[in-house]
Amino acid sequence: EQYPVGSVRKFYDLDGTEILVKRGDDGFNAYSSTCPHLGCKVHWLDDKQQFFCPCHNGVFDSDGNPVSGPPADANQKMYPAPMSVDESSGVVYIEVKEPKGGRA
Ligand code: FES
Repeated sequence: EQYPVGSVRKFYDLDGTEILVKRGDDGFNAYSSTCPHLGCKVHWLDDKQQFFCPCHNGVFDSDGNPVSGPPADANQKMYPAPMSVDESSGVVYIEVKEPKGGRA
């Protein structure tokens, strides 16, 4: 109830990297908020159900696939962050694979 389907929330890793976690029909998916184009911050547009990067108007669908702008021209998807849950402790692990400083 507190995390409805179609919503996205921000979390931070231990280095302060922002992670965007989307609850979809099939569960949770996490992405780095670092734009794969030139490293600006991507954010979620709830009304459009899309991710948006304001630096060059990059648009990604709710699965992190490029829709328009420079990321679409270069077929750059948002960085996925695989998630897993430790069943015994309930701790959620999110693996952030982006290179430090983003992709240039
Ligand atoms: Fe995101 Fe250019 S840095 S579209």
